[in-house]
Amino acid sequence: MDKFLITGGTPLHGTVAISGAKNSALPAMAASLLTADQITLHNVPMVRDIVTMGKLLAYMGASVSTRDFPASEYAFQAHTISDAVAPYELVKTMRASILTLGPTLARTGIARVSLPGGCAIGARPIDLHLTALEKMGAEIVTSHGYIEARTPTSGRLHGARIAFEKITVTGTENILMAAALADGETILENAAREPEVTDLVELLRKMGAKVTGDETSTLCIQGVEALHGAEHTVIPDRIEAGTFLIAGAITNGDVTVTHCEPRHLTALLNKLREAGVSVEPVGDGPGPRALRVRGVRKLLAADMTTEEYPGFATDMQAQYMALATQAEGSSSITETIFENRYLHASEMIRMGAHISIDGRTAVVRGPAELSGTTVQASDLRASAGLVLAALVASGETTIERVYHIDRGYERIVEKLSGLGANMSRVHAPAI
Ligand code: EPU
Repeated sequence: MDKFLITGGTPLHGTVAISGAKNSALPAMAASLLTADQITLHNVPMVRDIVTMGKLLAYMGASVSTRDFPASEYAFQAHTISDAVAPYELVKTMRASILTLGPTLARTGIARVSLPGGCAIGARPIDLHLTALEKMGAEIVTSHGYIEARTPTSGRLHGARIAFEKITVTGTENILMAAALADGETILENAAREPEVTDLVELLRKMGAKVTGDETSTLCIQGVEALHGAEHTVIPDRIEAGTFLIAGAITNGDVTVTHCEPRHLTALLNKLREAGVSVEPVGDGPGPRALRVRGVRKLLAADMTTEEYPGFATDMQAQYMALATQAEGSSSITETIFENRYLHASEMIRMGAHISIDGRTAVVRGPAELSGTTVQASDLRASAGLVLAALVASGETTIERVYHIDRGYERIVEKLSGLGANMSRVHAPAI
């Protein structure tokens, strides 16, 4: 397994370009199952989860092609879906495979998707996806580790009024896609408002879907007979952008993050300013696409609670914790989305951080002098938090199991090294 070696202590300087959002590209790819026509996507990040989703679509009979390398533009075409199965081998490596359930069922009347099972950050059930599909007429059984879903004898799902008990991002996306090809109107209440959901709505509209209410928590979808091909550019990755902003701040550097969407980063920017960090938009006009972060001598403690969008993203919690270890005072961090998302904390403690955890709240006392050691990455965002901690630790940190970070950060070693970080990847010996 590959490792990262990071020697901390260098302030980062320069400019870094943000890639497309993994969590937008994944549902957009799944949406290609809704039509026999071609879907062309631009700004797709070159990360492992995209490769996995590409394999899954190919397994189901879609053609997946790309022109350039490293790839950022892809064409997907599912003329027919020959095998409406998402097998365990692929689903176990990426829970977002569940995004194929709604579109496959709506298009072909049948879908078999392996149950994703647990995950390092929490149980992550998919009951809300299934209950919603049942309300739309799907008959669902789970057996031998697979969800088997069929449309009713009429052949198509029907519209329904669905109120999610809890906000779910991929649940909203799955039902949006299913409803786009259902008979009649679907109203989705308590829907996720994440920018990635809005991006999917934009793609679906280009494909001929009739959706209103995006950016609100009530989505209204009028099902149509068929959808057609479309071309779409995936939004910038707000979590990658946030990670680089914290990298600039934590190292007391001066970093300009380009190709980002500052509107999607409001909660993080407010929190960074509360912590004393200077972050300013760069460029004129109504929609500046770059942010410049400059470190300060003294970071200040600031409490933070994760929430659904537009609140502070759970996917930025580990990175924020790294920053909090360097802030003066006591920062209370509360994780409300996932029940077990503090696996990075024990590794940060091994690096010298002062963190105590009580249930869903972690109290971080800073500033702590971190020192490099060998740490284990446990999930994608935890790995990013450890990279940030390593950038300020004295001496060398070895981060093991970096396959987690490869799932969602495009060329992170190259991008951080380009800003002056002393960082390298050690490739696992070929067996
Ligand atoms: N939940 C249920 N039942 C369901 C679905 C969700 O109880 O049927 C619970 C979950 O267990 C969790 C909460 O609802 O406690 C929210 O989960 P959600 O469904 O919103 O998460 P997700 O759709 O599986 C997406 C992102 C995650 C991100 C979360 C929260 C994708 C592919 N994944 O997951 O991203 O953390 O939303 O914002 O979009 C990551 O990129 O590292 C990542 C984990």
